[in-house]
Amino acid sequence: LSSATSPHDNFLRCLSLGSNLSSSIARVVYTPDNSLYSSILDSRIRNLRFSTPDTPKPLVIVTPLLTSHIQATIHCSRNHGLQLRIRSGGHDYEGLSYVSHVPFVLIDLINFRSVDVDVEYRVAWVQSGAILGELYYKIAEKSKTLAFPGGICHTVGIGGYLSGGGYGLLFRKYGLAADNIIDAQLIDANGRILDRQSMGEDVFWAIRGGGGGSFGIVLSWKLKLVSVPPTVTVFAVGRTLEQNAIELIHKWQYVAHRMPHEMYFDVSLSQVNSTRDGKKTILSSFIAFFLGGADELVPLMHERFPELGITKKDCIEMSWIESIIYLGKIRNQSLEVLLDRDLQSPLTLPSFKSKSDYVKEPIPEIGLKGLWTRFSEKEVESGVIYFFSYGGRMDEIPESSTPFPHRAGNLYKIIYNVAWNQQDNKNSDKYISWIRRVYSYMRPYVSKSPREAYINYRDLDIGTNNEGNTTSYARASVWGQKYFKNNFDRLVLAKMMIDPENFFRHEQSIPPLCTKQ
Ligand code: FDA
Repeated sequence: LSSATSPHDNFLRCLSLGSNLSSSIARVVYTPDNSLYSSILDSRIRNLRFSTPDTPKPLVIVTPLLTSHIQATIHCSRNHGLQLRIRSGGHDYEGLSYVSHVPFVLIDLINFRSVDVDVEYRVAWVQSGAILGELYYKIAEKSKTLAFPGGICHTVGIGGYLSGGGYGLLFRKYGLAADNIIDAQLIDANGRILDRQSMGEDVFWAIRGGGGGSFGIVLSWKLKLVSVPPTVTVFAVGRTLEQNAIELIHKWQYVAHRMPHEMYFDVSLSQVNSTRDGKKTILSSFIAFFLGGADELVPLMHERFPELGITKKDCIEMSWIESIIYLGKIRNQSLEVLLDRDLQSPLTLPSFKSKSDYVKEPIPEIGLKGLWTRFSEKEVESGVIYFFSYGGRMDEIPESSTPFPHRAGNLYKIIYNVAWNQQDNKNSDKYISWIRRVYSYMRPYVSKSPREAYINYRDLDIGTNNEGNTTSYARASVWGQKYFKNNFDRLVLAKMMIDPENFFRHEQSIPPLCTKQ
């Protein structure tokens, strides 16, 4: 084919022919020869592992201003055999919102980010391109006692976060973010705009946790807001190996999931230099968030977990919105910092690889000791492992209520993380093989058949679709069962209803049953 008839040229011609669209869409279409192309692409790449000269780039980026721009982009991509990548906040762990190994067009929803909060009815309509911080800020502007159960990293995009479930400080009290979605607007492969009623309950079920990029483009979401007291309390305390870190984490496994619904309690492990002798040690950091005052939290800790030795001095009282800034480690900033989507938050990593697990039985101390040994490898010092306690409301919501199945029976979730500077991308294999070794070591201690994983911690190691991203049900089940357990089958049925020709696809998209091997 000559370049004049390449899918790329045909796609652009198709867009420009789109009747009265042509003039307005031209302003938001970027090809590699446009001077803004690279800055737009790079601005929301949150994992610099996927920002190298060898990373495949989109043929065209579209930053739609109007719904009709999205419809035209879908129509022209489909007609000219190009795949689509949809990007809201760009935090996908495997870069699936802006990387593909087949020719593709990127729709970046940066201009779809309005947030409309209705305090009286305790709901908000939020567009997918908004970030969590924008939602929180708009809620806090209107009320000190309303909140949304989302994560603490304020730059995470609404679109991907809600599509994969979304946990955060309030999830033991109110469930996941996806448990609090009451309506949505979806554009399907035919360009139709559907709401809850017109898409039907199966598709509405699927988009609330079935993972982004499989069913269509969600334009906006109607969210239920939840109550928080004017005062919440947080503490963050560290204990090293020499301060009984292993025994404390061992005990944490028994107490954290039984804490009242009002409490969020996690612990992370990282390698640090000991303040005593400068030698490497493991630091375990216990972080708690409590819906209430320190006067209530301190006695609770004394009763349930006296070994941690929490006193009033460790506790800081603040409002819910301040806790997002505090625990997001963007301290000493005004609330406006939540609107800054480009901020390099301390929680936003450079190049990284992550994996996840679920734990149903406490890990014996000997198992935890083996984990420390793997942590002490000299050549990889930047690994961090987080344990997030479950229980509370998560135990009460049935597994089939949304596609997210990891509910009752889980003591906690693990995320393994290793990060490195972009300049060290040439050594990424070293870091990735370290995290794979740790993951392999943990096999006896975590969920089995399937070994469960969290879709929003996307991990292509657990299985992918075929090249070109079509796949059989059997092949997709390998990764699908891990993310969704028995809900995977219902996701496949929902896919058949909304996108039987499998236009919306990527390395871990839900296949329709009829797709070939
Ligand atoms: P991105 O834009 O990369 O999209 C992710 C996926 O969803 C892609 O497949 C994309 O195509 C698809 N998608 C995006 N917008 C869509 C739309 N409008 N319609 C359909 N599909 C769409 N998670 C969590 O539960 N709790 C937490 O506290 C955190 N914290 C956190 C911190 C940091 C620093 C990172 C990097 C990640 C997290 N996460 C998290 C994980 C996060 O929830 C996950 O990566 C989300 O998919 C990110 O959503 P974005 O919109 O930013 O990603």
